[in-house]
Amino acid sequence: MGGGIEGGCWCAVIFCALVWGATADYNECDLYEGSWVYEESYPMYESSKCPHIRKEYDCIKYGRTDLNYLKFRWQPTNCNLPRFNGEEFLRKMSGKKIMYIGDSISVDQWQSMVCLLHASLPPQSIIIQHTLNSTTTVTFEDYGVSISVFLSHYLVDIVEESIGRVLKLDSITNGDIWKENDVLIFNSWLWWYRRGEKQPWDYIQIGTNIRKDMDRMVAFQEALKTWAHWVESDINTDKTMVFFQGVSPSHYNGSDWNEPGVTNCAKETLPMDGSTYPGGLPTAEEVVEQVLNGMITKPVSLLNITRLSQLRKDAHPSSFNVFKGMDCTHWCVAGLPDTWNLLLYAALV
Ligand SMILES: *[C@@H]1O[C@H](CO)[C@@H](O)[C@H](O)[C@H]1NC(C)=O
Ligand SMILES: *[C@@H]1O[C@H](CO)[C@@H](O)[C@H](O)[C@H]1NC(C)=O
Ligand SMILES: *[C@@H]1O[C@H](CO)[C@@H](O)[C@H](O)[C@H]1NC(C)=O
Repeated sequence: MGGGIEGGCWCAVIFCALVWGATADYNECDLYEGSWVYEESYPMYESSKCPHIRKEYDCIKYGRTDLNYLKFRWQPTNCNLPRFNGEEFLRKMSGKKIMYIGDSISVDQWQSMVCLLHASLPPQSIIIQHTLNSTTTVTFEDYGVSISVFLSHYLVDIVEESIGRVLKLDSITNGDIWKENDVLIFNSWLWWYRRGEKQPWDYIQIGTNIRKDMDRMVAFQEALKTWAHWVESDINTDKTMVFFQGVSPSHYNGSDWNEPGVTNCAKETLPMDGSTYPGGLPTAEEVVEQVLNGMITKPVSLLNITRLSQLRKDAHPSSFNVFKGMDCTHWCVAGLPDTWNLLLYAALV
C-alpha cells in the first residue's frame, strides 16, 4: 500500500514537472530566434507622415524607391510577437519616462518609437518636443508619457582636463540624470574603434592610469563593466527597468552574407532567408553578453537584436540620406528599428 502511495506521488511530481515545463517553454519562447516573412500590411506607418525624421534615416524622402524593405515582419519560430498598439502602450506607461541612451543607433530607435506612437494617436493629440543639453524629449501630454534620447557615445565620461579630453573608463556621472527614468534602453559600440579626427578623446583612463591608447575591445569591456556596476549599485529596479541593446551590425563585407567581393549594402533590396548568418556574431556582442551574464542580480534584459538585424542587409539607408554618403550602419525609419521597438513593447506590455 505504502508503495502505491509513493508511486502516486512520484507520478504527480512527473506530471507537474511536465506541465510546468510546458508552461515555462511557452513563456520563455525565444522571441529572437526566427526569420523575416513578407507582410502585406507593413509598414506600420508612413514615414512621410512622421514629423521631423532625421535626415540620416529618412530614406524615402532622400530618394529610395525600392520599398520591399518596408514589408518584412519578424516571425519568431515558436510564437508570435504582439501587434503594436500605441494607445495601449501609452495607457500602460501612463505617467512614465522612457529614455534611450547611447549613440546614433539609440537615436534611430528613439525616432522609430516616436513615429510608431505618433501614427497610432488621433491628430489632435498634444505632442511636444524639446532639446536640453544631451537630451531630446518627446512628451505625449494626454498620457504624461515622455520618450527621450540621451546622446552618450561611450556611456562612460569624457572630461576636459589640462592634458586634453580624457575618456574615463571607470566613471559615469550622467547616471544621476538617467536614473530618474522608469525605463532605460542602453546601447554603445559604434564609436569604440574611431581613430584620428573622429575620435573625440585624447587620452584614456582606468583608475589612476592614463595613456594614449589601449586595446579597444578591452576598453569597451571595461566601460561596460563600469556601467554594469553602476546599474547594480545605483538603479532601484523596483522603479526602473533596464535594457541593454545587443550590437547593431553594419554591412560592408559581403563575405558575411555570402556575396564575397561586395563592399557595401547599396544593391541589397531583400533580407536574408532563414535564421542563420554566415558572418557569425560580432565579437563585441560576445563581450556585451559576457558582461551582462556577469551581473550578480540580473537587473538587465538584453534586447538581443544582433542576429535578426544581421539578416537585414537591405534595411540601411545606403546612399539615401541627405549626405548621399554610403551608410550601411544606420537604419531607415520606417524600417528595422520598428521591430526593435516591437520587441521592447513585448517586454513592457
Ligand atoms: C545643461 O548644460 C548647462 C551647461 O553645461 C548646465 O549649466 C545645466 O545645468 C545643464 N542643464 C541640465 C538640466 O542638465
Ligand atoms: C571580409 O570578411 C572575410 C571573411 O571573414 C575576410 O577574409 C576579409 O578580409 C574581409 N574583407 C574586408 C575588406 O575586411
Ligand atoms: C542572442 O541571440 C543569438 C542569436 O540567436 C544567440 O546565439 C545568443 O545566445 C542570444 N543571446 C542571449 C543572451 O540570449
